[in-house]
Amino acid sequence: METDCKVISFMNMKGGVAKTTLAANIAYTLSKNFNEKVLFIDMDPQFNATQYLFSRFKKKYGEQKDFKTVVNIFSISEEEHSTVENTTSEPPFDYNSLITNLSENLHIIPGDLELIKFDFSDRGNELELRNLVTDEAIRNKYQYILIDSAPTYSFYTLATYIASDAYLMPVKPDYFSLLGTNLFEKAFTPKKRQYRLNNICLGIVFTIVEANTTIATDVEHKYRNKYPQLLFENKLLKRTSIQNGVKNHEMMLDNTETRRNITLITKEFTERVKKVNGIEKQAR
Ligand SMILES: Nc1ncnc2c1ncn2[C@@H]1O[C@H](COP(=O)(O)OP(=O)(O)OP(=O)(O)O)[C@@H](O)[C@H]1O
Ligand SMILES: [Mg+2]
Repeated sequence: METDCKVISFMNMKGGVAKTTLAANIAYTLSKNFNEKVLFIDMDPQFNATQYLFSRFKKKYGEQKDFKTVVNIFSISEEEHSTVENTTSEPPFDYNSLITNLSENLHIIPGDLELIKFDFSDRGNELELRNLVTDEAIRNKYQYILIDSAPTYSFYTLATYIASDAYLMPVKPDYFSLLGTNLFEKAFTPKKRQYRLNNICLGIVFTIVEANTTIATDVEHKYRNKYPQLLFENKLLKRTSIQNGVKNHEMMLDNTETRRNITLITKEFTERVKKVNGIEKQAR
């Protein structure tokens, strides 16, 4: 069955470009202001997004975890294989057991440093995240599944790319930005053919932008020439209060200084996703 649920990842091989900030805040704003059901999946072993969202909901990430994490997504085969002896009709895995509820609308599969123990050697394992996000019960439950990713070419970024209907690229404007975008395309575009993917770039969002600086104007000009359709109109502006979000247990939407900025970005995000849905429906 086709649903309107969309899986959008936040990807860029450059570090520190606000992937996590943007992903966590769009997820929070969708769930709170737009009343959408959102599943957030933290596929970065640094698990900053989990710490950020847990802080907002005053949830502890202790040594002794009382919740499952993304690591369990990639351990499913092992667990299932050990129990399938002599059974031919194993019930489908219940992915709900991996999910932690932060609020009524916002759910998360938390990140985990242990994600680094997986690599490309275990063939097929990289498909487990796609198995989760294409599970019918999960698709029916959420309007959006947002995935934060690491700034590397790794097992877990490949798993993220494979699972995505679309990816959004946050770009912090500097003179190396375009190089990072080219590197991303070089690394991942060949995977489209290999895994028969139809994923697309949802757009490019400029981040941590200081208005009216020469560098921001220069870089924007370059991107506008190369990717005229992809640039978001709204940019993530540079604000100190965003850096203090974890300490203050607040997201951009909770702060009067940043509320309007994240609301406009999220609105544009939903409009772009609607367009993707429209195009797919026409094609069917
Ligand atoms: N709009 C902003 N204004 C000011 N600081 C910001 C803004 N967005 C992000 N930051 C800060 O910049 C740093 C990097 O942001 P973030 O962790 O979101 O980037 P990232 O791309 O996810 O990094 P990584 O590649 O390590 O995962 C953080 O300290 C964050 O608080
Ligand atoms: Mg990050």
